Amino acid sequence: MESYFLDWANLLLRWLHVITAVAWIGASFYFVFLDSNLEPDAAPNQGTGGAGGIWSVHGGGFYNARKWMQSPPGVAGHLHWFYWESYATWISGFLLLAVSYLWHAQAYLIDPRVFAWQSPGLAAASVVGFLVGFWLLYDQICRIGRRLALNERAIGLLIALVVVGLAYWTSQLFSGRAAFLITGAMMATAMSANVLFWIIPGQRKMVAAMRAGQPMDPEPGLIGKQRSIHNTYFTLPVILTMLSNHYGFLTQHDHRFSLLVLLMAAGAAIRVYFVQRHAWHRGRGGNPIWVAAVGATLILVAVVVAMPKRQPTGQTGAQGTSSVTAPPSAIMTIAQQHCLQCHGPAVQMKGLRLDSPQAWLDHAGGIHQQVVISQAMPMGNSTGMTAQERQIVASWFKSIEQIK
Ligand code: HEC
Repeated sequence: MESYFLDWANLLLRWLHVITAVAWIGASFYFVFLDSNLEPDAAPNQGTGGAGGIWSVHGGGFYNARKWMQSPPGVAGHLHWFYWESYATWISGFLLLAVSYLWHAQAYLIDPRVFAWQSPGLAAASVVGFLVGFWLLYDQICRIGRRLALNERAIGLLIALVVVGLAYWTSQLFSGRAAFLITGAMMATAMSANVLFWIIPGQRKMVAAMRAGQPMDPEPGLIGKQRSIHNTYFTLPVILTMLSNHYGFLTQHDHRFSLLVLLMAAGAAIRVYFVQRHAWHRGRGGNPIWVAAVGATLILVAVVVAMPKRQPTGQTGAQGTSSVTAPPSAIMTIAQQHCLQCHGPAVQMKGLRLDSPQAWLDHAGGIHQQVVISQAMPMGNSTGMTAQERQIVASWFKSIEQIK
C-alpha cells in the first residue's frame, strides 16, 4: 500500500514539476530573447532611460514590450513579478526527489558496487549536502569574482570546474541514475536560489527606489542580470540530467561521468549559440555557428564513448563473474522465461541485454527497481511473472548487496 501511494505522489509531483518548469523556463527564455532583441526605435513615446522596445505579433494581436534601465515615469496598473514559477519548480522537484530517491535510498540512491554507504539515511542526507554545498560554493565564486572584478568568462569557467568536480564526486558515491540527477538538482537549486536571494531582492530595491522617486542603484540590477545569465546557461544541462533517468545506457555506463560532462557541455554550448544568435538578424550579436558545432561535436563524441562493445554471441561474462556473486540458476531461469524475448540476443529493448550473469550483476540496481519495486517489468507482465518469482529477484538483490 505504501508503494501504491508513493506511486501517486510520484506521478502528481512529476506532473506539477514539469508544468511549473515549463512555465519558468518559458518565461526565462522569453526574457532572454527580449533583452537580445530590444531596439531603441521600437519603444515609442519613451521617456529617459528606456533601454529599448520590441514589437511582436502573437495570439491575434500586436505586443509592444519596453525595457527601462532607470525608473520609468510611473507604473500604471499592476506590476507583474516572476518568481512563483521558479519556487514551485524547486519545491515540486525537491519533493519528487524525496519520494523516490531519498525515501527509497537503498534502491535508487545507493549502488553497493559504487560506494558502501553505512546507512541509507546518511546517503539521503548527503544529497541535501550536495544541493546546499553547490549553492554556497557557486554563490561565493560569483561574489568574490565581482569583488575582484574578474571577467564573466573567468567566473563562468570556475563555475564549470566546480560543477564537473562535484559531478565526479557524485559519480563516486551514488548509483548512476542518482549521480546524474543530483548533479542536475544541485544546479537547479542554485538557479532557484539565484531567483530567491539575488534576482527578486534586487528587483524589490529597484521598485522601492522607483516608488520613492529616487534614482536607481544599478548594482542590484547588474548582479541580477549576471545570475539570470548563469541560469540560462544552466538550463539545458539541467534538463538533460532530469531526462537522463529514462536512459540506462547512459546512467549505467562505465563512462557515465564523462558522458554526463560531455552532454552538459554540449547543452551549455548550444544555449550560448542561441542566446548570441537571437539578435543576429537585427544586425547585433554574432551567429557563432562554431559554438553550435562544438556542441554537436560533443554529442557525437558521447555517441562514440557510449557505443556498446561488441559481445561474443551466447552466454558471456560467466568467466569474469566470481562464484560468490553470480546469480543463482533460478535467476537465469527467470531471465529465460520472462526477460529474454525483449532483452536477449535478438531484441534489446532500451539497449538492455540480460542473457548473462554478468549483465544481471551490472544492471542489478535497475533490475531490482523495475522488477521488485515498480514492477514495471516484464513489460505489462506479458509473461505472467509470479509474486514468488519477484521474491526470488528481491532475495538475490539483497544477497549481493550484503556481499558488497
Ligand atoms: C515485452 C517486452 C519486455 C519484457 C518481457 C521485459 N522488458 Fe524490460 N523493458 C522493455 C521495454 C520496452 C523497456 C523500456 C521501457 C521504458 O523505458 O519505458 C524496458 C526497460 C527495462 C529496464 C530499464 C532499462 C533502462 O535503461 O531504463 C530494465 C532494468 C528492464 N527492462 C528489466 C527487465 C527484466 C529484468 C525483465 C524480466 C524480468 C524484463 N525487463 C522484461 C520491455 C520488456
